[in-house]
Amino acid sequence: MQVYKKDVADIVMAISNKYDFYTQDILVYLNCWMGNGIIVNNKDEPVRTQVKIIKIEDIIRGFFITDSYDKKILLKYIFIIPEYRREGIFTAIIDDLKGQCEEISIDTCEKPMIHACNKLDFKFLRTCDTGKELCFVWKK
Ligand SMILES: CC(C)(COP(=O)(O)OP(=O)(O)OC[C@H]1O[C@@H](n2cnc3c(N)ncnc32)[C@H](O)[C@@H]1OP(=O)(O)O)[C@@H](O)C(=O)NCCC(=O)NCCS
Repeated sequence: MQVYKKDVADIVMAISNKYDFYTQDILVYLNCWMGNGIIVNNKDEPVRTQVKIIKIEDIIRGFFITDSYDKKILLKYIFIIPEYRREGIFTAIIDDLKGQCEEISIDTCEKPMIHACNKLDFKFLRTCDTGKELCFVWKK
């Protein structure tokens, strides 16, 4: 079945708005992704962006957005709908991503995510340039 970027973006924005989750940042990101604009990483390298709706048994459980470059994946945003948290969905996504790349990075200031990174073999790398977030990395 054909999946249109606009439909994916509408679902992501509906969730982001409903739960007030990085609404403005995600809107800017999605507009660039839909318009095939070039997104670059902090080294000005063009990255491939993927926007995924998490659907299990036909029920939407959340979404995530990744940037990838040269077998490295940066998990930009992930949101699991509250009633489906703590069921291992994030763990399953990370397991899947680990099979697709050699490095995964996550920048976060959210406590559950920090716990999850520690549990899933990510190493604390440094405090991000913003000074607010912690940068975690997993390497094969
Ligand atoms: C962070 C988030 C993605 C985790 O998703 P999840 O599917 O619930 O995670 P999992 O069920 O795979 O949990 C994996 C581990 O993470 C840790 N964890 C998850 N939620 C936690 C919480 N609320 N408090 C403490 N640790 C938590 C635990 O170590 C957990 O393992 P355990 O359940 O065996 O103890 C989810 O809580 C979420 O969407 N939060 C809101 C959005 C957000 O903060 N996104 C990250 C921004 S960078």
